[in-house]
Amino acid sequence: MRPSVMRSAAQLLRRRNYSSASGQQARKVAILGAAGGIGQPLSLLMKLNPLVSSLSLYDIAATPGVAADVSHINSPALVKGFMADDQLAEALDGADLVIIPAGVPRKPGMTRDDLFNINAGIVKNLCTAIAKYCPNALVNMISNPVNSTVPIAAEVFKKAGTYDEKRLFGVTTLDVVRARTFYAGKANVDVNTVDVPVVGGHAGITILPLFSQATPSTNALSAEEIKALTKRTQEGGTEVVEAKAGKGSATLSMAYAGAVFGDACLKGLNGVPDIVECSYVQSTVTELPFFASKVRLGKNGVEEVLGLGQLTQFEKEGLEALKGELKSSIEKGVAFANLV
Ligand code: NAI
Repeated sequence: MRPSVMRSAAQLLRRRNYSSASGQQARKVAILGAAGGIGQPLSLLMKLNPLVSSLSLYDIAATPGVAADVSHINSPALVKGFMADDQLAEALDGADLVIIPAGVPRKPGMTRDDLFNINAGIVKNLCTAIAKYCPNALVNMISNPVNSTVPIAAEVFKKAGTYDEKRLFGVTTLDVVRARTFYAGKANVDVNTVDVPVVGGHAGITILPLFSQATPSTNALSAEEIKALTKRTQEGGTEVVEAKAGKGSATLSMAYAGAVFGDACLKGLNGVPDIVECSYVQSTVTELPFFASKVRLGKNGVEEVLGLGQLTQFEKEGLEALKGELKSSIEKGVAFANLV
């Protein structure tokens, strides 16, 4: 065994001891697309997460530099960079959680669906590798269009015989993060105390924030203001794409949201009770096979998919309006995954 391999194995053992001494499980997290606009700050945030013992950074380019850089941070997670196809197996081996921000982002004038042709293929290949090398990992899908990439992942896993609907998540946390921020600003309440469920999907009108269930509740907002908040949440991604003027889409706020959701998944795996986040998952909440709503996380991933609660007339109309688009995005993903 090479000295460097022995050294890292020894470090890993120490880490495992450290983890068991502190009563925590050693958890391996793999980030696929780790050198990208989202991947880099997400790698940084996951390196800071005390629940992570091993952090595997994979991309088709530039991961040695990102991994070297992040590895110097004095937090427990052991960081390793992996590049190109032949290192994907090692990157994924033994992962508890795989986060996927690989793929191209939007440019001004593009919808998330315009990314389909490139990102669908990337996601299909990465999920094929996940099925092979870490079939029991939780998968957090960030790559857009999430409304289609999650069904693609499900089909790939079904074909491989590894599908477990409890372990596949579309990351919609950025919609929740935006809804909280915009609501706190308008309602003039402390943003630290705010929560807003966001249901449906993750593109345009399929994003349905339920401001009637926002906490702390307020009577201060008019119907017009709720309508404007809803539209701003639905178009939050476009606001960033336009402000970046061709240099990509949300990366920093997305990395934050991805880290929040990844942390929730790890807490669930570790048996922390009452971890609830919104996510786009296999669902029976509506007639659609995939739908975002509040989800209780546990040791096996999804513990319970929670219902929609009481909706206002405006929200009921939003729900009906989103179903057609979400249905066709799901069908597009399923059809793509089943092309030979
Ligand atoms: P980026 O272009 O900056 O980074 C993408 C990275 O993926 C690059 O480093 C690239 O080398 C890598 N990559 C490409 N093919 C790969 C493969 N086969 N295996 C591993 N890595 C691969 O893009 P950015 O801004 O980081 O966005 C990534 C994705 O996240 C996009 O699809 C974007 O639309 C999506 N996104 C999702 C959000 C959400 O709320 N779920 C919010 C914002 C963006």
